[in-house]
Amino acid sequence: MSDENTHSDQAHGANGADAALQALKALQAEIQETVLDTVGAVDAYRIRFLSRKQGQITELLKRIPEVANEHKKRFGQEINAAKALVESRIETAAAAFAETETAKGPAFDLTLPGRAVAQGSLHPITQALRLITRVFESYGFDVAEGPEIEDDWHNFTALNFPPDHPARDMQDTFFIEAPSHAHDGILLRTHTSPVQIRVMENKKPPIRVIVPGRVYRNEAISYKSYCLFHQVEGLYIDEGVTMADLKQIIHAFARTLFGEDVKMRFRPSFFPFTEPSAEVDIWWKDENLPDGGRWMEIMGCGMVDPNVLEGLGIDSEKYTGYAFGMGIERIAMLRYGIDDIRILYENDIRFLEQFS
Ligand code: PHE
Repeated sequence: MSDENTHSDQAHGANGADAALQALKALQAEIQETVLDTVGAVDAYRIRFLSRKQGQITELLKRIPEVANEHKKRFGQEINAAKALVESRIETAAAAFAETETAKGPAFDLTLPGRAVAQGSLHPITQALRLITRVFESYGFDVAEGPEIEDDWHNFTALNFPPDHPARDMQDTFFIEAPSHAHDGILLRTHTSPVQIRVMENKKPPIRVIVPGRVYRNEAISYKSYCLFHQVEGLYIDEGVTMADLKQIIHAFARTLFGEDVKMRFRPSFFPFTEPSAEVDIWWKDENLPDGGRWMEIMGCGMVDPNVLEGLGIDSEKYTGYAFGMGIERIAMLRYGIDDIRILYENDIRFLEQFS
């Protein structure tokens, strides 16, 4: 179209007409050459050339007055042809995109095997806790729970701990608020026994509950002690409950957990809230030891001290009761052959996977 580029200066300045024709030429080149390889590029292309308000085709139409009269018709035809080219290129590109989409097939490959959902397992502490709870439930015990943040009164005083008892020492207890003359002290419970007190505050005998829960002690962390652990507490209060009942139920429990032939012993001990008190050991067989095994302590227990009952308004002439408390970690470690308590709190998947 080189001859069309010749211009006239009849009606307008030669420069204006020239400029319009050059703009048309440049536009035709761009329309032809713009690469339309993505959906985004096609959209941008459409807006750039065809937008009604600012599209370049519209802009060019506005410049028709600049063109000499004898070229106006041809100028207009060229613009229309350019516009048609834009439209057809858009159509071709869109059709090509649609085709590759279909060639790809559906977005999902329905023949692929499903992705297996990783299934976790219960933590060994949870497993031991549930097992122990089930055993005592089968003996007719209810389950009670209490707060992990306790006051000094429930954790110590009501349990007959003298004011200067060493267990109250900051060494063992995580105090949240140290006791003062103004108040009692708030702490992380050091055992589940305060829940005994809470149960007896709310219920008259007969009482038969177990209390599973987490407890805290400010101890040096080692293979056998951690700053937190779990206990299951037991409490039975009724008329005529004796030490024989306590021994019988603990023996039954040990047989269920450690086998019918379990060897066990009650060893005299001391707790402020029980009198008499005992600790229970089971004989842990171990061929590597010179004696073929050793005694392992599994719990503390005793007859509830009359002072505790009287403090809660329970007539200790009429009612007696026993209590026991055991560490779950200790029992889980015995059952599963774990020799370092810390591994129970590391949440190492390789360890936990062994309990599924
Ligand atoms: N609370 C005691 C402890 O943590 C255990 C215990 C519970 C002893 C009940 C006797 C009776 O050591």
